[in-house]
Amino acid sequence: MAYSWDKSLETGNFTIDEQHKSLINAINELLEACSKGKGRTEVSKTLDFLQNYVVKHFADEERLQIQSSYPDYKSHREKHESFKITVKGIAEEYEKGGATIQLVAKVNTSIGGWLISHIKSEDKKVAAHILSR
Ligand SMILES: [Fe+2]
Repeated sequence: MAYSWDKSLETGNFTIDEQHKSLINAINELLEACSKGKGRTEVSKTLDFLQNYVVKHFADEERLQIQSSYPDYKSHREKHESFKITVKGIAEEYEKGGATIQLVAKVNTSIGGWLISHIKSEDKKVAAHILSR
């Protein structure tokens, strides 16, 4: 299953929205590499890219929160930190066991599903806060 960015994911902050589109692309690349049985190098490349992009995106988003004195910064940051741990765990699981059905399911629910609901519930609040200032 591939994810797609649509208006329901729009936060209204240009930087955040553009980075979310790239994140969704990166998740799709990973899912495609896993499901098409691409070799280890290809899957590892998409996993590395995703991990690095997640770090960059969260750092940028957290900077925007600090700059705008976002009141829920601390708890939002904690959600980011635990997601980074989830992604790291999935990367480690891939290194050990390869692209199993269980791994692909985790990519779908714990990475793709998490991101979609995080955008809708948390990031929209951040963007609304920034816009209201
Ligand atoms: Fe976020």
